[in-house]
Amino acid sequence: MGQVFVTRRLPGDALERLTAAGHALDVWEGAEPPTPEQLAERAAEADGLGCTLTDRIDDALLDRCPRLRTVANYGVGYDNVDVAACARRGIAVSNTPDVLTDATADLAFALLLAAARRLPETRQVVLDGRWGTWEPGEYLGRDVAGATLGIVGAGRIGEAVARRGAGFGMTVLTNTSRAGTPLDELLARADFVSLHVPLTDATRHLIDAAALRRMKPTAILINTARGPVVDTEALIAALHAGEIGGVALDVTDPEPLPADHPLLSAPNVLVLPHIGSATTRTRARMTEIVAENLLAGLAGEPLPQAVPVPVPRDAPGS
Ligand code: GLV
Repeated sequence: MGQVFVTRRLPGDALERLTAAGHALDVWEGAEPPTPEQLAERAAEADGLGCTLTDRIDDALLDRCPRLRTVANYGVGYDNVDVAACARRGIAVSNTPDVLTDATADLAFALLLAAARRLPETRQVVLDGRWGTWEPGEYLGRDVAGATLGIVGAGRIGEAVARRGAGFGMTVLTNTSRAGTPLDELLARADFVSLHVPLTDATRHLIDAAALRRMKPTAILINTARGPVVDTEALIAALHAGEIGGVALDVTDPEPLPADHPLLSAPNVLVLPHIGSATTRTRARMTEIVAENLLAGLAGEPLPQAVPVPVPRDAPGS
């Protein structure tokens, strides 16, 4: 039977399936994630590893985990895992797709609506005791119905946000690396731009100064994907220059964003602490998927949610 290290306490009780199957389970109990050194020490004898987006699974770690056979990432994005390095060692990697699609799409749409209707700012008016009377010309926001929603990255979550946009009477444009509305055109036409690409070398700083300049000065940028897809310095400059109308972010670069970070004092900024999949049912389902994949990996079976191994650039036919 195998040894399993899981780097955080995970919601629900699905990890018990590992002990029920006879595996030895070790769960990091800290309120903060383990440091790279703590992770390497605790995972040194592990056959299976459950990890999250705050853990870096790279050559330096894998060199210290000679028994590792399977890595189950608690999350759909797996840019924290060097999948090629795992593959070179015969370590299979899984993620938790599908179960978090609706929760994350809901949050993207909540950000869109909150920014469109100025919820953070108007809530503050009430809390500050500045709600004097009903004002015909105050707190005017943007109409969502009839507006154009640009979806960048039409995977499962992007498509779920597109469905929500259509349901709210929006015109929806989508862009993928291969199809749909060209990115420059989408940025120029959209009133709301919502990002749903994974973080890769190709998408890092996809939204840079030039991309921000292409957007309408009234447009709102929503990011529930990964912080580094947007160039934070360029974003701060664009907000101060009025090149875009506002930003609503569930993910930032850096993460967590310090309270004194200049992004937070730029105009029209709404930031949440990376809660896209954070509903009770979704997070419990994600634990179930981690458990299922660890069980399969430890049994030497194909992983139900295996992530694709990247093809080396110099591979024949690549
Ligand atoms: C969270 O960001 C995830 O990738 O699931």
